[in-house]
Amino acid sequence: MRSRGLASLARALKQQAHESTLIHTSIAAKSTSTSGVGRIPHMETYINTHTHTTSPRQALPAAAASISAANQPYPADAAKEASWHTKAAALGALGLGLAATTGAVALADEAEHGLHAPQYPWPHEGLFSSYDRMWVGGVWGVMSLDKCTITQIIHTIPAQFTDASIRRGFQVYQQVCAACHSMNLVHFRDLVGVSHTEDEAKELALEIEVTDGPNDEGENFERPGKLSDHLPNPYMNEQHARYANGGAYPPDLSLITKARHDGQNYVFSLLLGYKEPPAGVSVREGLYYNPYFPGGAIAMPKMLADGGVEYDDGTEATESQQAKDVVTFLAWAAEPEADERKLMGAKFMFVLALALVQAVYYKRWKWSSLKSRRIVVDVVN
Ligand code: HEC
Repeated sequence: MRSRGLASLARALKQQAHESTLIHTSIAAKSTSTSGVGRIPHMETYINTHTHTTSPRQALPAAAASISAANQPYPADAAKEASWHTKAAALGALGLGLAATTGAVALADEAEHGLHAPQYPWPHEGLFSSYDRMWVGGVWGVMSLDKCTITQIIHTIPAQFTDASIRRGFQVYQQVCAACHSMNLVHFRDLVGVSHTEDEAKELALEIEVTDGPNDEGENFERPGKLSDHLPNPYMNEQHARYANGGAYPPDLSLITKARHDGQNYVFSLLLGYKEPPAGVSVREGLYYNPYFPGGAIAMPKMLADGGVEYDDGTEATESQQAKDVVTFLAWAAEPEADERKLMGAKFMFVLALALVQAVYYKRWKWSSLKSRRIVVDVVN
């Protein structure tokens, strides 16, 4: 008799879309075992405990209720039917409810979290693609040919058809964004071999003044920058930065493409996303309408304009070109090891592929004597 209860429980459970296969398997095992003579007591306990753990996971209390209805020891056929109907209705209601709320939630979500940025095909994002680095004299990274290794030459192959977006991006950062944003995690030495030669990076560093100290007299002093200094802070401290920006704090940009959801696409869209506020939307004095920014009103004015920067390499500095370059620079700053990581990955995959071939061969070789063995059963004796 108990088996009827269990069988209906098994059916009820099978209806739940998100059950684990484990439970299905154990229930199937149970229904076959109850139809036979032998019963497995521990299996029963297993099912019961798992029934209890599944109930709170149900999306709808109604569905949970129908399970407990089906869990009764002697369910009448009519009661069983009713429980099926309850469940079907509950699931249907859930579907309708979801469909109705999804649209509204999506709209509310965009207003609160900002418009989701479109996906752009970043040239450095592929599994085997590298950053758009500087290409000088035969090898990326401004190495002279006599010093380069095979790896560097391999790096060169994708790089030589491109034109150093990181370097242009640095220029945009330095000439535009650095007025308000720091990049404390990027040092002048990091630029060496990526966007600048060592001499160029030293020159860049020399242009800044760094407070150092104390000296022998216990005083702090100003000195020209060195390769080991990080890019300069535009403000003395956060209060200063907020004071200068109407209370908003321009965040450090070193890791910004990692610190925001879908960082590269977001920053790119943000920089190009300034618009007149739509009818009915008013933006407070000192804020600017930008649908990609959560809330839609950002304290950063539109910074990029066609021709706002003059590129060293003669590339035409359109607004979107600047946005693309500065985002490439920011992506590199947040993940300078990306190229190295991809190269290592490719090497590992290659070596693992060789190891796999060897392993398959070895397995076949080891098993060959067993697989070709013939066992003869001598029936006569
Ligand atoms: C005039 C000062 C100023 C300049 C120049 C400036 N920003 Fe900003 N930026 C701000 C302020 C202020 C904020 C904070 C906005 C807020 O919280 O409303 C900000 C925020 C940001 C954010 C973060 C948005 C977020 O999701 O929190 C990014 C990314 C950003 N700026 C990128 C840039 C880039 C790239 C440049 C150069 C092209 C640049 N900014 C130039 C003032 C500036």
